[in-house]
Amino acid sequence: MRHSASGASAGTRAGTRAGKEAGTRAGNPSVDQVIVTQGLTKRFRGGQLAVDGLDLAVPRGSVFGFLGPNGSGKTTTIRMLMGLIEPTSGSARLLGSPVPRGLRRVLPEVGALIEGPALYGFLSGRDNLRRYDAADPTADPRTRTARIGDALERVGLAAAAGKKARAYSLGMKQRLGLAAALLQPRQLLVLDEPTNGLDPQGMREIRSLVRELAADGTTVFLSSHLLDEIEQVCTHAAVMTRGRLVVQGPVAELSAGARGRLAVTTPDRADAVRVLKEHGVTDLAVAGEKVTGELPVPPPDLAVLNAALVRADVRVRAFGAERASLEDAFVALTGEGFDVAQ
Ligand SMILES: Nc1ncnc2c1ncn2[C@@H]1O[C@H](COP(=O)(O)OP(=O)(O)O)[C@@H](O)[C@H]1O
Ligand SMILES: [Mg+2]
Repeated sequence: MRHSASGASAGTRAGTRAGKEAGTRAGNPSVDQVIVTQGLTKRFRGGQLAVDGLDLAVPRGSVFGFLGPNGSGKTTTIRMLMGLIEPTSGSARLLGSPVPRGLRRVLPEVGALIEGPALYGFLSGRDNLRRYDAADPTADPRTRTARIGDALERVGLAAAAGKKARAYSLGMKQRLGLAAALLQPRQLLVLDEPTNGLDPQGMREIRSLVRELAADGTTVFLSSHLLDEIEQVCTHAAVMTRGRLVVQGPVAELSAGARGRLAVTTPDRADAVRVLKEHGVTDLAVAGEKVTGELPVPPPDLAVLNAALVRADVRVRAFGAERASLEDAFVALTGEGFDVAQ
């Protein structure tokens, strides 16, 4: 686990490396960090510090979850990465090229869906994509119809493609925006809250689409305020709160850093509490026949702990440790619940 305050080594190292390899060619596939930022900062006019000294390192081939509550600076970061707004200070590289100077070269390799795609309501979904593709000088007009058909199919909009976009639900608009990002093969997809406005079924479909794209070798950078979603689909994550990076790394490592809670079901509660205490379990609580507590870090061998209970004549009906979640990690790192809004 890397804390932004103490470590920041990931971003720094990656930055140096990308720096050496910069300026070779657009979307250089040998760059192994597709997004690197150093001290990236945005202060809006009026003084709002939306992003504060962000060091981000997104490895090629990852599904990278950019996680944070509403207002934590995710969209602002993405807008800076895509050259839509200027950073106040700090720097960023996309596919090895400096932002915003080198963006022209690498943007054809990057598909993006950012907060509410701009659509013409009077055009059908398909015609919106046609218009969008026609505006892209790198798109081959001869393959346009086929590529549009594929993209609509991929996001599950084929049947509704002829409908006017103003008749689309929020979820359908979101899918159409995603289809626009998929019109060409991309090295990197940047998706800002891609499941916003979708029902649970739609969210599942987007998750499986993201997995498919990743399996094809596309790096996917997606933001979300939903912890659950990040845990289900992402290999890596960065956690933001109030414009600052709390932690980043492989998802498995992030949640492993937080403690899991142990639960023992037994009629012999007092003895169970005593034995668990002796083995370093803290914050013990008893509810009915269930005894729960915090496992120490590093966690003990659970087989040994179970054997100790049995040796002490504790009748164990059920025994198990709940895996720590990203949410546990977030709470442990920030001392805040996840649902904080500024
Ligand atoms: N154009 C803007 N002008 C002033 N403040 C802004 C602007 N855009 C965003 N902010 C503020 O910056 C902070 C981060 O916003 P945002 O990046 O949209 O967060 P998120 O995408 O994580 O919900 C919020 O406090 C928001 O109100
Ligand atoms: Mg946002």
